[in-house]
Amino acid sequence: MRIGILYGGESSEREVSLKSGNCIADAVESLGHEAIKIDPRHIDITLQGFFNLDKVFIALHGGMGESGHIQALLDLLKIPYTGSGLLASSISLNKLKTKEVWRSNGLPTADWIKVSKHTPTDTIKTTLADLAYPVVVKPLNQGCSIGVSKASSPEELFNALVDAFEYDDDILVEQFITGREYTCAILDGKPLPVVQIKSDSFFDWNAKFGDQSATYHCPSDLTAEQEKAMQEAALTAYKTLGCRGWGRVDTFLDNEGKIWLIEMNTVPGMTTRSVFPMAAKEAGMSFEDTIAALLESATF
Ligand code: DAL
Ligand code: MG
Repeated sequence: MRIGILYGGESSEREVSLKSGNCIADAVESLGHEAIKIDPRHIDITLQGFFNLDKVFIALHGGMGESGHIQALLDLLKIPYTGSGLLASSISLNKLKTKEVWRSNGLPTADWIKVSKHTPTDTIKTTLADLAYPVVVKPLNQGCSIGVSKASSPEELFNALVDAFEYDDDILVEQFITGREYTCAILDGKPLPVVQIKSDSFFDWNAKFGDQSATYHCPSDLTAEQEKAMQEAALTAYKTLGCRGWGRVDTFLDNEGKIWLIEMNTVPGMTTRSVFPMAAKEAGMSFEDTIAALLESATF
């Protein structure tokens, strides 16, 4: 088959996407297919590249590649592609909409306040006056923890907001959950073994990609019962958003043993250091097996 691999793009996650795309292209070739790498930064080349493709593997993180735009284009062209469709992609890339869907369906997600760049400063101050610290500040539409930081005082919150507004006009200020951090990958409607994330400092962009101080553990430290509960929570979160094909749900287990949903990733990282292939490996699947399963699940 001729498999188009969409990677790179124009989002702030471009560099991670290039790495994911290269790993995926190598696996596609090992599986005996032709891998055609397409960087939609050049949309004219992209459109030419779409002709004669049997399937598309979307390895674009963030921006228009994960937000439903590319998915809608492929729907129109009737080319099967990996992962979620237009609506689930759109909702999942928006951290506020994701939380609203989860909350309205009774799923556990931390309390939040939305702050907009265009809101007068005095109104922002009033809105945030009664916050219980610490909080986490997140741009609404970014991945890879870009622009995300933890704030433990009004001064830190101010600096965090200034930083986050560099990336987005709308920001979430979310209650910080004290506990342990996990992530659960889902492949074709089935949860993979849970991965535990350990980070001495706050698990932000730097811990993930900068000094890479965060470590990932699979199997995790969860008991069999907790593991099952975490997988069920992740699968429910994924299904509630209408996701398909694959995804990864980030979670917390608080000190009272309650599971909290943090966010949905509809195009998980697939670099050599990424969590999704690690979880698949624990389930007995090689990187090539995982890519083969994802290509099999491609649809429009
Ligand atoms: N957004 C990054 C790539 C992830 O969730 O893995
Ligand atoms: Mg994300």
